[in-house]
Amino acid sequence: MLMDYFTIDDFDVEGRSILLRIDVNSEVIDGRVLMNERIREHARTIKELCDRGAKVVAMSHQGRAGGRDFITLEQHAALLSKFTPVEFVDDIIGPAARLSIESLEEGSALLLDNVRLLAEETLELPPEEHAKSIFVRKLASLFDIFINDAFSVAHRSHASVVGFAKVLPSGVGRVMEQELQALQRATQNTERPCIYIIGGAKYEDAFSIIEHVLSTGKADKVLVTGFIANLFLAAKGFFEMERYLEAVRRARNILRRFGEKIELPEDVAVEENGERREVAVSEVEPPIYDIGTGTIEKYLKMIESAKTIIMKGPAGVYEREEFRVGTKALLEGVASAAAFSLLGGGDTSSAINVVGLDKSRFSYVSLAGGALLRYLSGRSLPGLDVLARGKSSE
Ligand code: 3PG
Repeated sequence: MLMDYFTIDDFDVEGRSILLRIDVNSEVIDGRVLMNERIREHARTIKELCDRGAKVVAMSHQGRAGGRDFITLEQHAALLSKFTPVEFVDDIIGPAARLSIESLEEGSALLLDNVRLLAEETLELPPEEHAKSIFVRKLASLFDIFINDAFSVAHRSHASVVGFAKVLPSGVGRVMEQELQALQRATQNTERPCIYIIGGAKYEDAFSIIEHVLSTGKADKVLVTGFIANLFLAAKGFFEMERYLEAVRRARNILRRFGEKIELPEDVAVEENGERREVAVSEVEPPIYDIGTGTIEKYLKMIESAKTIIMKGPAGVYEREEFRVGTKALLEGVASAAAFSLLGGGDTSSAINVVGLDKSRFSYVSLAGGALLRYLSGRSLPGLDVLARGKSSE
């Protein structure tokens, strides 16, 4: 496993200064950050490194410039500190940050401020260009090792993700390692039958995943739900979707190439007088809000006999109780299945919370959104490429 990357087991970290890229990017409600999985998980990597006597300097982004969730990381440091002490430094590359880094003691950790406060951070540049940035040049000489613990930002060719890996011995942290192990198990040497349950609203990503896993033979079946099911049903001629002509054309092309491997809803739920009503797809007029009972039963049988299940995106408008039925039933089915299950995408995680299932019932729930979609659609991730053994500075 993970032969392609160094992990923190490959380094003697005692007494070493480690620059650790984490991703504590969180939802911000009324200016407040609540405890969440990302914070919990990255705190474990920080704690392990501190326990091994390292000097740990963590860095992360939060939000995007101009957004309401673009805030400093002070609250994140306080939340991380609920698990292991992490001091917040109100600076990234200035004298205050550099002094704090240089005077850090063994077994201690600090968190620099939001790296996206630096304009250089988000330039989409190749690693060798980022390695020349002021950001990387100011900090790199203060460290012995760079560890990226954030699979969820590996799709960004940003300075904090790819720049340091070019100039420091580098590897992956525990959270990244778990993500990669789960992804490798789900997508390489996959136990068959392998099914993908693809829903949610991001239909372009969904199309790319379906095309990739069916053209490479990685999936035996794709069970389609959510908004993308509308596009496939329109492609089959059940109704028209004039605003999505290009997407419907793409769906038609996918059906032409891989039709026998794609399962579509046979019945769905629509809204009538504010209530749920189930109809056969031959009678439906969009908008469709959920999959219907017959479809749920059909999908559950496939879930039961699968050995590997990858699920992305809810089956319907799970925020509304009357249209949560499909999402809830499929999630419960996957949670009870004997298969290795990997779930991911932002909406999927919130759907798991809304239906009240414990994440431990699944083999792995990814912390990533965009990075996961990109990985599942077979595209390379700059943050991983730069860490591949032999490509970083070692
Ligand atoms: C995420 O939340 O998916 C990651 O932190 C990436 O954030 P970004 O889409 O703002 O780059």
